[in-house]
Amino acid sequence: MTPFTIAIDGPAAAGKGTISKAVAERLGVAHLDTGLLYRATGKRVTLGEAPLEAAEKLTAEDLKATDLRTPAVAQAASRVASIPEVRAALVDFQRAFARRAGGAVLDGRDIGTVICPEAEVKLFVTASDAVRAGRRYRELIAGGHAVTEEEVLADLRERDARDSERDTAPLRPAEDAVVLDTSEMEIEAAVAEALRLIAARRG
Ligand code: CDP
Repeated sequence: MTPFTIAIDGPAAAGKGTISKAVAERLGVAHLDTGLLYRATGKRVTLGEAPLEAAEKLTAEDLKATDLRTPAVAQAASRVASIPEVRAALVDFQRAFARRAGGAVLDGRDIGTVICPEAEVKLFVTASDAVRAGRRYRELIAGGHAVTEEEVLADLRERDARDSERDTAPLRPAEDAVVLDTSEMEIEAAVAEALRLIAARRG
């Protein structure tokens, strides 16, 4: 089967992860949450490792850690993600995953622009700040994290600003991406809409 890549980018907590996972399951293709690579690198840095070494030494075990979803790790991820050498160290793995036989869904910030500009389908998933903060707040509370909605909103805004303003691979939609605003959608509707857009692009 020829490689078929679906690139799903967007700001923090826009629903990329849920949509990507559901789409990959439905289409029977592999899924890579590239945010985990940056989160695992950021976590290693908070434990004292140098950023580039942390990125180069990532293992499959690192990506399975259960504490990668905390706001502290998210902030550490966004800081290491602005270092060009760190991003460069993670490119080959992501590109190989994107072009694997059988197809792949990758979600992140720069999949459609830098990692896989040739992706057959590119979605840019967004939602209003308030909606994104509300969704992430509920996820974190359900996961047992003590946070307030204001803290979550501040974290999202800070990361989005850093991710958008960095020089290397900033967060932005690819020119040929379809924007999917999920502010007014339940997640099931967003998944259905993503599948419709993918089917339309696939022809
Ligand atoms: O789940 P959420 O959208 O909050 O974050 P994530 O996708 O896990 O990404 C965490 C951080 O990693 C982001 O704030 C970015 O700084 C960085 N990241 C990136 O720079 N490039 C990617 N392809 C994926 C994540």
